[in-house]
Amino acid sequence: MVKGTETTWWHSGTVYQVYPRSFCDSDGDGIGDLGGILEKVEYLHWLGVDAVWLSPVYRSPQKDNGYDISDYREIDPTFGTLSQVDELIAALSQKGMKLIMDLVVNHTSVEHPWFAESRASIDSEKRDWYIWREPRVGTRAGDLGAEPTNWESYFSRPAWTLDEKTGEYYLHLFSPDQPDLNWENPAVRQEVYETMRWWLDRGVGGFRMDVINLISKKYPLGDGPVSVESGRGDGREWYLHGPRLTEFLKEMHSEVFAGRDAGIVRIGETPDVTVQQARDLSESGGRKLDMVFQFEHVSLDRARDNWMRPVPLARHEVYRNLADWQDGLASQGWNSLYWTNHDQPRTVSRFGDDSPEHWAQSAKTLATVLYLMKGTAFVYQGDEIGMVNMPFSSLNDFDDISAVEYSRAALDRGRPAEEVLRDLSRTSRDNARTPMQWTSEVSAGFSAGIPWFPVNPSATWLSVAAQRDDPNSVLSHMREVIAARSKFDALATGAFSDIPAPDSRLVAFDRTSTDQTVRVIANLSSEAVRLPSLNMGGLVEHDSLRVGVVSATVLGAWASTVWISA
Ligand code: GLC
Repeated sequence: MVKGTETTWWHSGTVYQVYPRSFCDSDGDGIGDLGGILEKVEYLHWLGVDAVWLSPVYRSPQKDNGYDISDYREIDPTFGTLSQVDELIAALSQKGMKLIMDLVVNHTSVEHPWFAESRASIDSEKRDWYIWREPRVGTRAGDLGAEPTNWESYFSRPAWTLDEKTGEYYLHLFSPDQPDLNWENPAVRQEVYETMRWWLDRGVGGFRMDVINLISKKYPLGDGPVSVESGRGDGREWYLHGPRLTEFLKEMHSEVFAGRDAGIVRIGETPDVTVQQARDLSESGGRKLDMVFQFEHVSLDRARDNWMRPVPLARHEVYRNLADWQDGLASQGWNSLYWTNHDQPRTVSRFGDDSPEHWAQSAKTLATVLYLMKGTAFVYQGDEIGMVNMPFSSLNDFDDISAVEYSRAALDRGRPAEEVLRDLSRTSRDNARTPMQWTSEVSAGFSAGIPWFPVNPSATWLSVAAQRDDPNSVLSHMREVIAARSKFDALATGAFSDIPAPDSRLVAFDRTSTDQTVRVIANLSSEAVRLPSLNMGGLVEHDSLRVGVVSATVLGAWASTVWISA
């Protein structure tokens, strides 16, 4: 079988994302670890997921919680050992699940030996492994504005940092601790491929590739349009979906994936990707990626020129956007279906209604609507129980580097602290990074010690323990949704078709295969809505996926129902 030309596990599959630091702590140091994940394999199997995507556990100074790697083949002692990863692969595989590793190769940590060598001198053999430039013409190193281009990094600083020793600047699209690798250099690419083969040989089931559409830069680099807010430039024209991206991914395919198991999955995280680019990148048999994480639906409630500033969300636009992606990738390409991950706030607080009255129903309905679309389902830890945003009360409460840097920069520019706190409370990644809520006991059953980050106070009533045996819980519903994905043919590869509704709070769509139809109808609002008459000929309601429907003609707040051909 040629990779990419057949139906494989992920068409109907569900991937569960573990953010190891906050998942389960087995040794009482307050930080989640591999031992903790091993303890939860049974739970993941019970939930019914097909694979676990593990956020980085490699050796790292942890400046960006592991997305700054200093050794790609070692495990950070915070999380455990390499033999525990082997154990995890075996334990998952025994239950029919795969382990997907996070591959962060747009950049390394400044503490990676490659960077140490590269920065040592201008003549270093590895100088060209990173992107070094002299100060801007007519300026001296260290002068204001001497950076080679005017770009702002993703983390609210200039994208260039001066290395005093050699008087040159290095590029970092994220923090100064995360220098960008120079993918133009074939030796860099070969090292990356070698590392990937090494992990595949250990038995991992694929990779989630961090910001993979940033690896190819457009040269020569130049200044981008300046934002009023930061006074710095937007360099995306030079680093998004660069001219050699496709070539690099094809090379990766032939060096790493060709001839291997067709079930090995390549998931690309691709900020700002367009539908057309996504079609091309995830084209079946296209030797690039199997699917992409697009960002449009998670950008609808953010200011255009400031990702950390919330703007009001029109809920119907979210569904509209997802439906557009369904149409866009209908004949070519493949979607990743996600509401949240470790970089996003909590689903129910953001897209649903986390008030006591609507919390459970909105969490369930959001799961039904998204995960019954066409694509691979991604469930982020805690989302299966409807975890909510953290009630932050001060700027000192934030831990994440992007929040800390955003607040520093905003305060420097004179914005009032309350305003910055309001932004971050809504948009901060820390919302998703509080410890997993296993029980209502001290530390939410996450750790026997003091958790590295405070537990969300909702743990008193919101936990796995409180929901596991309740057939009406968010967790039980999520299990039903996951099971339905592989039970019904139409949900694997069946076509998606939107059913236009007269009321923008209502959404309805069909998934259709040759001999089956699945119809989803939902009210994405906190008010009851009159239901238009839909021809239900030959369809029967699927009781276990029905949420809060009160009558045949009115859908209650956040009610949803799924109908399937007999
Ligand atoms: C990705 C990761 C995010 C990280 C960034 C830099 O977007 O998901 O957590 O900060 O890349 O590696």
